[in-house]
Amino acid sequence: MFDVDAIRREFPILQTKVHGKDLVYLDSGATAQKPLVVIEKITSLYSSCNANIHRGAHYMSGKVTEEYEQARDTVRDFIGARSTKSIVFTSGATASINLVANSFGSFISYKDEILVSEMEHHSNIVPWQLLCARTGATLKVIPFLDNGEIDMNAYSTLLNSDTKIVAITQASNVLGTMPDLKNIITMAHEVGAKVMVDGCQGIVHSTTDVTDLDCDFYAFSGHKLYAPTGIGVLYGKEELLEEMPPYMGGGDMVARVSFETTTYAALPLKFEAGTSNYIGAIALSEAIKFVKGIDKEGAESHLHSLLTYATTLLSTIDGLTIYGQAEGKCSIISFNIDGVHPYDLALLLDKQGVAVRSGTHCAEPIMKHYSISGSVRASFAIYNTKEEVDMLFKAVEVAVNMLK
Ligand code: ALA
Repeated sequence: MFDVDAIRREFPILQTKVHGKDLVYLDSGATAQKPLVVIEKITSLYSSCNANIHRGAHYMSGKVTEEYEQARDTVRDFIGARSTKSIVFTSGATASINLVANSFGSFISYKDEILVSEMEHHSNIVPWQLLCARTGATLKVIPFLDNGEIDMNAYSTLLNSDTKIVAITQASNVLGTMPDLKNIITMAHEVGAKVMVDGCQGIVHSTTDVTDLDCDFYAFSGHKLYAPTGIGVLYGKEELLEEMPPYMGGGDMVARVSFETTTYAALPLKFEAGTSNYIGAIALSEAIKFVKGIDKEGAESHLHSLLTYATTLLSTIDGLTIYGQAEGKCSIISFNIDGVHPYDLALLLDKQGVAVRSGTHCAEPIMKHYSISGSVRASFAIYNTKEEVDMLFKAVEVAVNMLK
């Protein structure tokens, strides 16, 4: 049974006061708060079992290495990958996408085309722009419709035998749209293109099965999934990762090093140069176990009801526009109110204890689409309540009365 009060008790930070008010944290799309199991795991490792992995012959190094590799298997299982060879730990989704853009990017030439959707976060745009700048390849944009849905007709028209990569989000961090990935991936494969999925928001809001999706690459960050910052994952199909050259060089990613010939470690370590964030990876696996321990259907229906309730309440406010109303969207609401600057609104919400994000949300093309300079975004997580939606609504009303 999904019990939001029980879940809230696992997140000590939710008891915090800001400006003397109860914290209403509606910025989980930027980073989620951490449950006790994650916090305690980090403390316990640093207090009683910390040593560098894959390096020492001593007890603690062996123990942490074992937990690190178990964490890899926990991630593998969570996203439905076949092999741990496909799971590379990185510092976050941005690093994962840059890895692919650089390493798989070495197979890209000036004749090739890369498609990115108009609703991508900058981290799934800029690495591809850099790749195009290096290779002379062409970047093309899959537009979205005003309601926030991907324009599938335009996508179909853009795809051709020169398309080598399609970069697409699993869930837009601004619009909440969850594109029809299966269809998008199938269509890309029909022309021989590979698909990079940005799973940052999507992994939090839906069950992810990379094998069923048949995506070629999938990236996510731990910190949006109740894990610490500085840890992320790249999933890649084993045969692709196998043929791709290393991205960064250094310790742990090599088999033998000499000035004449250096050989590389087997997957996945070939892509994990240097001391990895092993504490973060182990903490990520604790976060995943925490998520798996929650009634999935109950959590999904809770988040859906928060989204519906917030949408209904906010829509009653005069002059309020919500950006993104796609069918099946996840629990993210971006909005503006006529005559009110999003930054001013966010500041006044903050004074009332309500934490939301304002600005361009690292997705400037979406702002351009709607000809706006920014928006306010409320993003909900499993620990948010209906009462907090009421508080958001009241706080917006108070702010609007002050600003208008
Ligand atoms: N990508 C994060 C967000 O959407 C930071 O807020």
